[in-house]
Amino acid sequence: MYKYFTSIIFTILIISCVQDKDFRLADYNVVPLPQEIKLTEGDPFILNKSTKIVYQKENNSHRILAEFLSKDLSDITGYTINIGESASTLTNNIFLKNTLENENKESYTLSINKDNMTIDGSSEAGIFYAIQTLRKSIPTSAKDYIEFPAGEIKDFPYYKHRGASLDVSRHFFSADFVKKHIDVLALCNMNVFHWHLTDDQGWRIEIKKYPKLTEIGSQRDSTIIGRHTATFDHTPHGGYYTQDEIKDIVAYAAQRHITVIPEIDLPGHMLAALASYPELGCTGGPYIVGSEWGIYEDALCAGNEDVFSFLDNVFSEVAELFPSQYIHIGGDECLKNRWMECPKCKNRIKELGLHETKEHSLGEQLQSYFIARVEKMINAKGKQIIGWDEILEGGIAPNATIMSWRGTEGGIYAANKGHDVIMTPEAYLYLDYYQSPDVDKEPFTFGWLTDLKKVYSYNPMPSELNADNKKHILGAQVNIWSEYMPTSKNVEYMLLPRMAALAETLWTNPEKKDYNNFVSRLYNLSKHFDRLGYENCKQAYGVQDSIVIDTTMNEIKVYLSTFDNSPIYYTTNGEEPTNKSTLYNTPITINNDMTIKAISGKNKGNPYTKKFVSHKAIAKPIQLKHEPASRYSFNGATTLVDGQLGAITSYRTGTRIGFLGTDMEAIIDMKNETEISSVVINCFVNTRGDLFKMKRLTILTSDNGKDYKQIYNDTYPIPGKDISPMIVGIDAKFPPIKTRYIKVIAESIKVLPDWHKKKGQKAYLMLDEIKVY
Ligand code: ACM
Ligand code: ZN
Repeated sequence: MYKYFTSIIFTILIISCVQDKDFRLADYNVVPLPQEIKLTEGDPFILNKSTKIVYQKENNSHRILAEFLSKDLSDITGYTINIGESASTLTNNIFLKNTLENENKESYTLSINKDNMTIDGSSEAGIFYAIQTLRKSIPTSAKDYIEFPAGEIKDFPYYKHRGASLDVSRHFFSADFVKKHIDVLALCNMNVFHWHLTDDQGWRIEIKKYPKLTEIGSQRDSTIIGRHTATFDHTPHGGYYTQDEIKDIVAYAAQRHITVIPEIDLPGHMLAALASYPELGCTGGPYIVGSEWGIYEDALCAGNEDVFSFLDNVFSEVAELFPSQYIHIGGDECLKNRWMECPKCKNRIKELGLHETKEHSLGEQLQSYFIARVEKMINAKGKQIIGWDEILEGGIAPNATIMSWRGTEGGIYAANKGHDVIMTPEAYLYLDYYQSPDVDKEPFTFGWLTDLKKVYSYNPMPSELNADNKKHILGAQVNIWSEYMPTSKNVEYMLLPRMAALAETLWTNPEKKDYNNFVSRLYNLSKHFDRLGYENCKQAYGVQDSIVIDTTMNEIKVYLSTFDNSPIYYTTNGEEPTNKSTLYNTPITINNDMTIKAISGKNKGNPYTKKFVSHKAIAKPIQLKHEPASRYSFNGATTLVDGQLGAITSYRTGTRIGFLGTDMEAIIDMKNETEISSVVINCFVNTRGDLFKMKRLTILTSDNGKDYKQIYNDTYPIPGKDISPMIVGIDAKFPPIKTRYIKVIAESIKVLPDWHKKKGQKAYLMLDEIKVY
């Protein structure tokens, strides 16, 4: 009894000490999670002002690594950690070594005991990653001395290519920012920086032989505001990197074990180059540097020999600047219209004897010729090409590595043909999409919702591949396209923390991945992002929801949670919640118009806010006659009775479904005879895009689900040209009627009108809710 009692007191004492000492306890639960962490019983290693980092004698690279570690530790602790080539005492050293034998040249061990800490890498990269693990394991509130629990960490990455791209064409970012960006890639153990240096809206790399590329091509007069608006800011935007700046950045990245892969995007996405040298285009111009987003029709002429000499000269300078084994040559989204009308291109087609086949159009084959020729030129400079998956069209260049972005099919196809592949499927790894469903509070983006959980869920290894072809999957990367990121702060916010989710996927054994565990470690990493001055989204640390639309019980229930189970306080009347608001313990049922606002007890992240509208058809069984388009089907028919309306900023986050070239025809079963007198439906309209209002609304009722009687019918004019994104509400009122079934037919215009730039193609009808009153 006595023993039991003392052990309780002892435990309480330990817990209170641990809490007091939180700020000085290191913890190896970092992102990405190391492969193996074995803690031992012994006393911890104490880092203090007398600790010395000891690196290999007369080894400059090791000295640089020791300096990195010293700087990281000093920045956090506030005192200087000395470095040197030999230990001054037997204890209190951090030894850096490079003796680990491991085929994986990025692996390391980290051994910690009360006397010393030893980092052993299979290469300098391994030592570097051990340093990243150490710096992330320290609490950001560290003061005074820090205790590192005794034990051993064995670690290595799962994938070889761990990348992140940055588009500096749509918006230019300073060389200093590029270095800061590289720093955070390194902190997350990423090893490839894919630098998208050229595009329609700006050429950003100095090429000595072609000065106009930067004199003219790096400047645009104006930039479109928002999406599909035709409103411009009339403000010049420009900038480029000199070759000296590029060399400096490449060397900076190399010290951080990051390879810089430059991308010169061709033969499309070349408007900035064409504006500089119009003779390289099919029409001869004049061209102006792009000020809108999307795809332009002009491309490099495939029939002009001067184009290939130009590219050869450009790539000679590029190859000199970048030690990378790869040069990315783009190859995406090249429209073929100009080629098909150009005498030189037609000549080339003739000369090559190309013929339209069932698999490949003439344009695709000409593109294939173009890419294969560029590949040969780059191979001759001792480099290999990477291209977006469009380069598969018309036949793949012999040695190309494929970057699969339009899903993973292209990557799987290429791997099966023996080509190396880097996965970057748009739906999971494009970070220019929203990361929080509360889109009206987020910086404006291209659309779609790709939250942290979705990025984390991605598995780069397709199960379709056999073991041999699996070897061709080198890894994956996240992409930052900067159309809607005018500032470097925007870039950081979109990148972080989602890049860390892919970083863990690429580093850690997939069997060890666990989302909640990841978020708890990420929360610690977010404090490092904050400390280092990186904007980062905190959505994942706040209240999360799971909404159940139960069409059997005809209820909507909102489940709330937090990653660490901290208490949740909420309101449903729109008031800001505090720690005195209702404590969440059972799911919230939507039975009125309601705005749920919730905070976690620890106030992590932004307050959760979600608005629900209540009406008579909420969570009632609903059936659609025509399926929504697969891109816009989300949760299917129930989306129309889920009590959630869509935002004006995006129609692509799951609150609306979209019908392509078909009507929306729904039957709602009210379950009991119900009196109704109005139906309200909102259409999301944007006629610069292809989203149109319904042209007719018909409502019918039935008591048996077979015989329907029309109770409402009205028609609406087809919206005109140039309508920027807007929500158009249709409020159908009729004399009260009792009914069990309601049939709602929203008739689409189906085909885009003659004045539309895509005339004759299918039109979308985008709807969020069928509100029945
Ligand atoms: C791409 O997103 N066009 C590669
Ligand atoms: Zn041409």
